[in-house]
Amino acid sequence: MKFLAVATTLLTAASALVIERQASAPPADQVSIESVAWAGTGCPAGSVSEVLDPARQTLTLLFDAFVATIGGGAPVLEQYKACTINIRLKVPQGWSYTVYKTDYRGYAALDAGVTAVQKAIYFFSGESTQWSAQTVFRGPLSKDYLMTDAISDGKTEFSPCGGKANLNINSSLRLTRTGSGTGFISTDSIVNKVIHQYGLQWQKC
Ligand SMILES: *[C@@H]1O[C@H](CO)[C@@H](O)[C@H](O)[C@H]1NC(C)=O
Repeated sequence: MKFLAVATTLLTAASALVIERQASAPPADQVSIESVAWAGTGCPAGSVSEVLDPARQTLTLLFDAFVATIGGGAPVLEQYKACTINIRLKVPQGWSYTVYKTDYRGYAALDAGVTAVQKAIYFFSGESTQWSAQTVFRGPLSKDYLMTDAISDGKTEFSPCGGKANLNINSSLRLTRTGSGTGFISTDSIVNKVIHQYGLQWQKC
């Protein structure tokens, strides 16, 4: 089915929490994901599925509804979508972790004058420090993308020792525009998955 889009971007999501097996990481069998919860306009109930790899090193979340749209008669509320993700990791005593990079894949179709911002804010429950990363896409473009948000050393906060706090990721997509390009887009051909990979960095504590 086709619809007329004055200026459209589509960004969707699947997230992968990657616990990289570095020399300085705790034994894999002592790290596991205890729970994942989510809420927000970008991830309504039933729109998220979870895949945990056999070695419990990677958690993948597939978001079926993390899509933002602007123009073409789309309601203004479609221009901003957000998803709050809450992850509890089981971490052995003597270790803490942080997220040092996020990789994500998806599809964006932006007319000239349209800008998309994908942003993530990270923080541990109960801690005041937060850190963030964002990627800006500027139209005109129409492509599958693979982006990496690298978070510089020292800009992140490590979890409390022994993983006693949930990691929160506030992820959002925001579309803005100047002018009004025109275009058609077929929903049939849209690749509606984005892979988010959260790389974790470990340290002894
Ligand atoms: C994260 O998202 C939640 C839910 O929308 C919100 O209450 C909270 O203030 C956000 N936190 C930050 C640091 O943006």
